[in-house]
Amino acid sequence: MRIYVADTKDEMAYRAAEIIEDRLIKYPDTTLGLATGGTMIELYRYLVQMYERGIISFKSVVTFNLDEYVGIEPSHPASFRRFMYEYLFKHVDILPQNVHIPDGMAHDMRAECKSYDCAIKEHGGIDLQILGIGLNGHIGFNEPGTPFGTTTHVVDLTETTRAANAGFFGSIEDVPKQAVTMGIKNIMQSRSIILMASGEAKADMVAKALTGPITPQVPASVLQLHPQLTVILDRQAASSMPKDYFDCSFVA
Ligand code: GLP
Repeated sequence: MRIYVADTKDEMAYRAAEIIEDRLIKYPDTTLGLATGGTMIELYRYLVQMYERGIISFKSVVTFNLDEYVGIEPSHPASFRRFMYEYLFKHVDILPQNVHIPDGMAHDMRAECKSYDCAIKEHGGIDLQILGIGLNGHIGFNEPGTPFGTTTHVVDLTETTRAANAGFFGSIEDVPKQAVTMGIKNIMQSRSIILMASGEAKADMVAKALTGPITPQVPASVLQLHPQLTVILDRQAASSMPKDYFDCSFVA
């Protein structure tokens, strides 16, 4: 695991964007795993800037998003498809057929989950997965207690998660009760992972996930087992890490 501690949230986003930039310059046909949430907004803004300056292109990039709410239309302002379109896809040259987001309106959700797993495999797996972390340690929408062997599946969202996302919907009552998410197994099969977190509210969970016991109760703790994990935190999100943790770790 490599950990970078940035001074600000903005610098955290820029550092993640730089890693993606390097990758897309070297390997323009990268398969990216993408995340949504407030943490990602600045990252996508930097990627759009890099595209506009002609430094990177998404023409040959394939994307798989982590998750989507069940039961809301893709055009709903709070759907993750809409989020991706607004913050990234509409600004860059990605081909619509190369964008994959689970369909939360599918009639047969089991079939949808299976076909999402198959699509990831058919594209040769995910080269670089971007992750945020939920207040309760979730990754994607894999809530505490999710077995590490899961592939794409439908989940019941916890109240913590629904409350954390209420801002995107107006009120907690409007937040869907279910979502469809890549499983922990899909995430762990990515060849490399960037985990991003900012703000004091995430600090205790970040410390637990990165330095505590590896347990399904803290889904992000499984990432300690990934051989190619880069963690990018801002100072506040890093503030609960054990004091001696950085003595022997790579901190930039
Ligand atoms: C949602 C997403 C996660 C994301 C998390 C954190 O629940 N499903 O993939 O990591 O929110 O969001 P934020 O960045 O807004 O804190």
